[in-house]
Amino acid sequence: MRLKGKVAIVTGAAKGIGRAIAEGFAREGANVVINDILEGPCREVAKEIGEKYGVRTLAVPGDVSLRTTAVKIKEETLKAFGTVDILVNNAGIMISGLVLDYREEDWDKIFAVNAKSVFLMCQEIGKVMVEKRYGKIINVASIGAKDGAVAQAAYAATKAAVMNFSRALSKEFAPYNVNVNSICPGIVETELGQVNLADPEKRKKFIAMTPKGRISVPEDLAGIAIFLASDESDFIVGQAINIDGGILYY
Ligand SMILES: NC(=O)c1ccc[n+]([C@@H]2O[C@H](COP(=O)([O-])OP(=O)(O)OC[C@H]3O[C@@H](n4cnc5c(N)ncnc54)[C@H](O)[C@@H]3O)[C@@H](O)[C@H]2O)c1
Repeated sequence: MRLKGKVAIVTGAAKGIGRAIAEGFAREGANVVINDILEGPCREVAKEIGEKYGVRTLAVPGDVSLRTTAVKIKEETLKAFGTVDILVNNAGIMISGLVLDYREEDWDKIFAVNAKSVFLMCQEIGKVMVEKRYGKIINVASIGAKDGAVAQAAYAATKAAVMNFSRALSKEFAPYNVNVNSICPGIVETELGQVNLADPEKRKKFIAMTPKGRISVPEDLAGIAIFLASDESDFIVGQAINIDGGILYY
């Protein structure tokens, strides 16, 4: 129960990595605010997690690339719980394509969802955390932030933005006891991950390049998120931590 009584927001938590992190937090005793652009699944997951772990949950559906959603998440969280301790900016999309063919509207879209949302949420929720002199912010980047793949240049650029935004913001927020870090998953078995995993040949290649010898599952990301959300990680600031089974060492 390392997060007992804490209030955590997780964006994009209706499935995949976000859901696994939200479940991990609830298992550790946190009350969890579930956001997702998919309204039905967002409400279902909030209900299921609340019942399974006996914690309070709140569903706030909406598109986190819009400021109105960030404000709504803040206001509804404060109304329900009176405070917020932990923020995980996890919502993200993949629009792959070679740069020469890449559509400008896709570039704008992927940046809005993957990068602008992180700025908006850190600004809105960060205000509350800075004021109360306590907070843990975990932004989900990717190993693509450090080593982009073919047909994923735009995605890699958004994740590099998330990683370096987190580093710079960590210096602004650390004096207020608000820790900002990012986490960099490898190749994860989720809907988004299928761009890399659907082709059996590509899947084999990814297994071969992973020293742990398997593809990551969403639950692999819960432990690091719990640790960074807990007071055990109080002196960890501005890091971009790989959880990739050993693919990258930097
Ligand atoms: N799967 C991988 O291989 C992998 C690797 C590295 C990083 N990541 C990152 O992890 C995060 C989670 O991805 P995942 O693999 O679990 O994907 P996923 O597609 O399983 O889940 C993403 C969730 O985000 C939600 N979402 C999408 N756009 C949104 C928006 N505008 N507002 C609110 N919610 C929105 C989706 O509805 C979905 O429930 C993403 O940021 C992704 O870039 C994934």
